[in-house]
Amino acid sequence: MARLDPHSQADSAQPVTERVDLSLKVDFAQRVLSGHAVLTLREASAGPLDLDTRDLRIASVATPEGAPVRYELAPPQPILGARLRVHLPAGTRAIRIQYSTSPDASALQWLEPSQTAGGQHPYLYSQCQPIHARSLAPLQDTARIRIRAGARFTVPSNLRALMAAAGVGREAAGEGAVVDIFDMPQPIPPYLLAFAVGDLSPRQLSQRSAVWAERTVADAAAWELDGVETMLAVAEDLFGPYDWERYDVLVMPPSFPFGGMENPRLTFVTPSVLAGDRSLVHVIAHELAHAWTGNLVSNATLEHFWLNEGFTVYAERRILEALEGTEAAELHAAIGAHDLEVSLQRFAQRPELTRLRTQMEGVDPDEAYSTVPYEKGYLFLRRLEELSGRERWDRFLRAYIDRFRFQSIDTDDFLRFLEERLPGVAARAAAKRWLDGPGLPPDAPRPQSRRLDELRAMAQRAAKGVLPDENAAVRMNPTELLVFLQSLPELPPDVCDQLDALLGLSRRRSLDLRHTFVLAQLRAGVEAGREAARRVLRETGRMKYLRPLYTELARRPQTRALAREIYEETRAMYHPIARTVVESILG
Ligand code: BES
Ligand code: ZN
Repeated sequence: MARLDPHSQADSAQPVTERVDLSLKVDFAQRVLSGHAVLTLREASAGPLDLDTRDLRIASVATPEGAPVRYELAPPQPILGARLRVHLPAGTRAIRIQYSTSPDASALQWLEPSQTAGGQHPYLYSQCQPIHARSLAPLQDTARIRIRAGARFTVPSNLRALMAAAGVGREAAGEGAVVDIFDMPQPIPPYLLAFAVGDLSPRQLSQRSAVWAERTVADAAAWELDGVETMLAVAEDLFGPYDWERYDVLVMPPSFPFGGMENPRLTFVTPSVLAGDRSLVHVIAHELAHAWTGNLVSNATLEHFWLNEGFTVYAERRILEALEGTEAAELHAAIGAHDLEVSLQRFAQRPELTRLRTQMEGVDPDEAYSTVPYEKGYLFLRRLEELSGRERWDRFLRAYIDRFRFQSIDTDDFLRFLEERLPGVAARAAAKRWLDGPGLPPDAPRPQSRRLDELRAMAQRAAKGVLPDENAAVRMNPTELLVFLQSLPELPPDVCDQLDALLGLSRRRSLDLRHTFVLAQLRAGVEAGREAARRVLRETGRMKYLRPLYTELARRPQTRALAREIYEETRAMYHPIARTVVESILG
């Protein structure tokens, strides 16, 4: 009897789920899913089976033949949710649980038509990572237990369900309803279960790839994501064959709280990647890279989250390097290093959250979320590459993915394999210090390039009132411009205005650029920053933009009231996780 995962009730002595089949009716009026889940176990079993649930109404548990099965639903615990203990009669291979979700299910966001791009139809989507799958269905919600999945969603016939799975077909269900049917044949951690329902249209990008979006944004999405097939080819060249058959992308409504989510076969992305200049496709490179690092080789628990995100940032930058060259990849690394700096400061009072390997017992993973596992993880892997040499390191990476494909592993599994294949490298890198120590080791790699030096020098000069000349200004691509903006020290207000006039910053579509410039405006005390901040905060629910802007607004007495006013106006649009983040900032 032992916990497999600090964030799950799953017990190592109990049977293991092999497959979950969902059959759910999507009720937009009540905001509930109702129906049943069939859990198939690896083998015929007996005795207690503990499942994770959150805010579920359990109606019955039965064998597939319909014989009732005894169960108890324990009172809810703060982070984990409520344990559902099912007492399996001897020889049980499957159980069928009849249930419904709560209107407040933490994995779901139900949107009114007015909260969508088209404004005509409602929209529903799920976000299960890190531990929200349990609010969708009763299951062993730990990445250690990989499951195959099937689903049947009954939806209004003018809408369509999409799932991160293979589409099997659509059946009529009477009274203006249809059933969309899916199957996920590869075993995945439950946090990768994902679906959406809305007025969605596809645009083909290649034989094996399409982008789905609301009708009104589909063409813009297809243009922005035109390079997906090339990216796939480059990634396969680096990491081995793409094992998931299709790679589709779903453009989410603006309230989607993340940049992207690597749902297998169907990446979810924020509509803010549609910057109109293809400058934010590194988000796609990132989510695509997860097909190898994260989805093939998965972190066993969130204490080893860096294995997912650190490897994926590393893989993302290798894809960018192959596509755009070392200079471009290095600029992205510099942007990452800047973001890491900000996170390390945010956690100055909680240094235990700046380790790569964390202790998460009693910690809400949504609260601990930061760029640390991403960017510190990236730097650690880059350090290992530096010590191994690229050729040996690349051979290691391929072998690592091959060795652990379709498995869920922890940091020790990684270290053992590293030692086996590249003996001595971990010791030379002082790996333990990276993994279990706070902050950054003194020998952490520093992104470096000629262009980076130029951009930083330009930023220093600009702050003193010597702006880049017209030529230099138009030559800066969006990534360079972001490095430039991040390198600016606090500006005198008039310089801030001149920069805007020169670079058109407050008119940029890219929120990476615009939110960074708004931060500069607020710090400079420029009046226009207030309305500019409001515009960004109304336009997106992506936490990457909300967190710094609300933090900056709340930090200074002149804008604290404004922060609250904007939040009152926008909170209905934000995803519940994003609301929690903003509320913790506003105090
Ligand atoms: N898997 C994450 C998103 C996530 C992490 C959701 C933890 C819930 C809990 C996704 O792959 C991600 O990292 N997205 C980034 C993309 C960026 C690094 C390019 C994001 O959302 O900003
Ligand atoms: Zn990621």
